[in-house]
Amino acid sequence: MLPVRGLGKPLFFFAMVGSTNERAVQLAHQDAPHGAVVVAEEQTAGRGRAGRRWFTPPGSALALSIILRPKGLSPGAIGGLTVVGALAVVEVLESLNTDAEIKWPNDVLIGGRKVAGVLVENSWEGDELDFAILGIGVNVGPESIPPEVEINYPTTCVQAAVGDRLDRHELLLAVVEGVARWYPRLGDPEVREAWDRRLAFKDREVRVDGLESEVVGVVQGVSENGELKLELKTGVIHNVAIGDVHLRPVDTNPK
Ligand code: BTN
Repeated sequence: MLPVRGLGKPLFFFAMVGSTNERAVQLAHQDAPHGAVVVAEEQTAGRGRAGRRWFTPPGSALALSIILRPKGLSPGAIGGLTVVGALAVVEVLESLNTDAEIKWPNDVLIGGRKVAGVLVENSWEGDELDFAILGIGVNVGPESIPPEVEINYPTTCVQAAVGDRLDRHELLLAVVEGVARWYPRLGDPEVREAWDRRLAFKDREVRVDGLESEVVGVVQGVSENGELKLELKTGVIHNVAIGDVHLRPVDTNPK
């Protein structure tokens, strides 16, 4: 039942919106409180990272955005909000006995295929964070798997892994509960540790595409600052820091 630990009150439910993140931004500007949650059955203009689209057809996915008004957090800790979203989802998927992992920085995978994504949008007033929107999208049923043309990474859905129909209402509650549990720990070392434990492709060689260059290396883990630690062929440890990095194993050929 919502609210859970201060999240989910009020709950704004829409049968159809452009984007729950966009709607949450509007509501936050209209003084919606910390903990308000926006949920939609369908998004017609769902937002993904790096300006990509996020596919949310009706009746098959989870699309939610949580309005957060963090107090007194450093910009570094605020950056951890995306991880809070990914941890919440990954734990729910673990409880369903799937081999869920986090592809750095915060895509959730099952069996190496993307099943959920997190998009945080911040609104600043000068140096102060006014609010943050934590947007989470989960592919639940097979209809939520994007059409081939929209896929930039191999994708799956939770039901394909679990082999059963799932109650999206229960999943929503469990995800919000997970966010509520991790959110107060933002900035604590245990958030990074939990992230690192779930990190996909550990000890495997990957290629990280940055905006202007690419790096190939073996994944070592997540650094204290949330960077991806790669061991290069030279033996040097190289930390990848920038937000929009596309990561995939060099030995697969998605799409
Ligand atoms: C990604 O590209 O991996 C991030 C996807 C985030 C999608 C969610 S769905 C709910 C919320 N509303 C949006 O428009 N985007 C996020």
